[in-house]
Amino acid sequence: MAGGAVALENPSPARLLRVQTQLRVGFRSRLPAPRNESQESSTHEDCGASSQTYIIPGAANTVHFRAVLNISPKDRVFVLTGAGISAESGIPTFRGAGGLWRDYRFEEVASPHAWQRDPRLVWEFYSMRRRVASDAKPNPGHIALAELERALRERLFLCTQNVDNLHEQAGSSRVVHMHGELFKSRCDTCRRPPFDDAGAYEPPSEIPRCACGGRIRPHICWFGEVPYHVDEIFRALDACTLFLAVGTSGVVEPASSFVGHVQGRARTIYVGPEEPANGSAFTECYVGKAGEVLPGFFRCESS
Ligand code: OAD
Repeated sequence: MAGGAVALENPSPARLLRVQTQLRVGFRSRLPAPRNESQESSTHEDCGASSQTYIIPGAANTVHFRAVLNISPKDRVFVLTGAGISAESGIPTFRGAGGLWRDYRFEEVASPHAWQRDPRLVWEFYSMRRRVASDAKPNPGHIALAELERALRERLFLCTQNVDNLHEQAGSSRVVHMHGELFKSRCDTCRRPPFDDAGAYEPPSEIPRCACGGRIRPHICWFGEVPYHVDEIFRALDACTLFLAVGTSGVVEPASSFVGHVQGRARTIYVGPEEPANGSAFTECYVGKAGEVLPGFFRCESS
């Protein structure tokens, strides 16, 4: 699949059209002209002498490293997290230096074809990832988002591409895992619901079997499969007034199109150490590690 995109294998035509339309409309056309530092939005705040200003080429705004994000009582916040938020917890990202896709070809370990061809190799890969994730602890970025949930309650929708459970460990109680969950498995044949499973199935272990005779596979959305909870996610995108993406490279569909979907009617904010591929779609980019930017970032105004 070109560019490592997750394809919607059997999408509803309307949904796919909406995603593609947003992409074709283009990110730049609706953006305000780039502004300089002196025109900084009132949503940004200096934190005294320690604040630093960065300009991301192609991004729509000048940004501060240390900043405060004001959230009004009327805001509905959609947060999309990617591998970057768990990087400081010791879980490798996929792309870039030390990324998993440097050592593995996703076609060989994370696709339906891989599962048909070599399920043992697939389980070896996910067993390794279970081992790494089971030692990981949430970092201040996860904790800041859990605190945000406590402040905003149902006005926060937390959607993650991550399959680890660090958001839950940090205290987030309503996490939507669009790419599945590492510590769950399901049958590749029958409709038995996904179930908790922390097992490691590495050779010479046999592939675990369901009572129906089918093979037990990781509960993961592989490349070429349909991400989970898509309808719920798009309802939340339609309702949001503030869209925040954290630690995602912006190259995997459909998540990379979410910002385009809300662009023009919601504030669009990115947090991460480098500009994502879809960076020009964000009106504000905060450059830094999630664990350093997010604590103290959110200021929820009371009504
Ligand atoms: P990527 O590995 O593509 O991107 C990780 C992003 O995190 C990069 O943009 C980094 O700059 C950023 N980053 C690194 N350290 C960070 C930190 N401390 N704080 C904040 N950001 C940091 O990961 P994703 O965009 O999440 O899908 O990848 C999307 C999907 O592609 C994954 O869910 C996975 C992968 O293939 C499947 O396996 C189906």
